[in-house]
Amino acid sequence: MAADIARAAALLRAGELVAFPTETVYGLGADAANPQAVAKIFAAKGRPQDHPLIVHLADAPQLDAWARDIPEAARKLAAAFWPGPLTLILKRRPGVSDAITGGQDSVGLRVPNHPLALELLREFGGGLAAPSANRFGRISPTTAEHVREELGDAVALVLDGGPCQVGIESTILDLSGDAPAILRPGMIGVDAIAAVLGQAPAAGGRADAPRVSGSLESHYAPTTPLELVSSDGLVFAVRNAIIKQERTAFLASMAQPIHHELISWRLAPAEPEPFARALYASLRELDALGCGRIVVQQPPQTAAWMGVLDRLRRATA
Ligand code: TXA
Ligand code: MG
Repeated sequence: MAADIARAAALLRAGELVAFPTETVYGLGADAANPQAVAKIFAAKGRPQDHPLIVHLADAPQLDAWARDIPEAARKLAAAFWPGPLTLILKRRPGVSDAITGGQDSVGLRVPNHPLALELLREFGGGLAAPSANRFGRISPTTAEHVREELGDAVALVLDGGPCQVGIESTILDLSGDAPAILRPGMIGVDAIAAVLGQAPAAGGRADAPRVSGSLESHYAPTTPLELVSSDGLVFAVRNAIIKQERTAFLASMAQPIHHELISWRLAPAEPEPFARALYASLRELDALGCGRIVVQQPPQTAAWMGVLDRLRRATA
């Protein structure tokens, strides 16, 4: 592994792309200080140029190299949650390139909680711009194999750190405005953030919030149409599949009510953490079955499920 890390760091210094594991999803990394390298990310993903990227750092003190006017709240949240699945949006320092920020006056920063990512960041020394390592609009990869499926030869090296433990993208908290606002829910919830801030962040972002690809309606989507239903709706959807003779894939925390050759049933965990961990790999597998539709049992609408519900809702769009 040490040899892989050295090779990855050398490729990054040479302006190449390297995919690496984080605790949330795999990232497609480039030297954040090299605009030509960052441009390769947009080309590989097929992503619009005005969508800003998160800069990954080895530790919290590096914040000062990328952000200015850093509020006390950012220091407290970094101390509480980094390394971990929380991205902070802060005012950018002059010199942070428009290729990273999408031309905005803010920059997204986080310290990922994965041993390989941290080793790579320390060896590389600087910040790594890294969106999720999927093609634009597709499901984020949670294994090295998924990255190869998504990006093939477009990436010079894929570091394999096994399956991601969190499974959905980081919570994004905007601290660049007047009041803290959640731009993207994740597994670090509003309550945990409020406990550190002594104030609940606003949900949904500011009125003048910048365009973020994670907030586009259709995102994280499988190619098979996906539907979210209640547990009653689940039984109805099973009957419907059989009546309409339509092969249908299910993801549900309830046991399969009827066995039938048209029904593919995958049992989903009943708790939010294991559900999130398995979600994207499950959607990929269900998508690959080539069914007419995917039906997912809607999890409870409680705070702990907000990140998962957000991704499921976008997958239906
Ligand atoms: O968990 C994660 O955050 C993963 C791993 C690889 O770290 N990364 C990830 O990156 O999800 P990406 O590019 O797929 O999503 C990052 C989101 C985008 O919606 C982007 O627009 C938003 O962060 N973002 C980045 N910088 C921003 C900024 N300055 N202001 C507002 N949103 C920003
Ligand atoms: Mg993404």
